[in-house]
Amino acid sequence: MAEENAANPPKFLSVGQVARRSGVAVSTLHFYEAKGLITSLRTAGNQRRYARDILRRIAIIKVAQDLGFPLAEILELLKPVPSGQMAGTDEVSAMVDRWQQAIQARIDGLTELRDKMEGCIGCGCLSKTDCPLRNPDDRLGRTASGPLLLQTARR
Ligand code: FES
Repeated sequence: MAEENAANPPKFLSVGQVARRSGVAVSTLHFYEAKGLITSLRTAGNQRRYARDILRRIAIIKVAQDLGFPLAEILELLKPVPSGQMAGTDEVSAMVDRWQQAIQARIDGLTELRDKMEGCIGCGCLSKTDCPLRNPDDRLGRTASGPLLLQTARR
């Protein structure tokens, strides 16, 4: 592979170069590739080569992971930007909007749960019928009858 220099940056990067520049371990890059988050080309010797845009794609993946998004959601998020195509500012801005909405939904859900748990403070019963921690939104009441509740309890 040709020497890197600022005046003549390489068009493609080796897995080691990508790891160094992105701060992501080689094994993680392989994992991302196995999950379909990134793609590579192969040399005649079957070595991976990545287009330069991979660094921006990995930055997006890392930000999304730091925000707590699972890889399946990140994969969905990246669908409008196929691997090998640079994510532009409009696309990244749209992702940030989606991240903000998803984070707000999580905050709303956690706030609701926190408010519901007030009755649990000083209680400790973990009742299957009444405790919002054990049975959020009365989920068991909608999906199970008495015998099924007993069967579930014995497991
Ligand atoms: S612990 Fe008793 S209602 Fe939750």
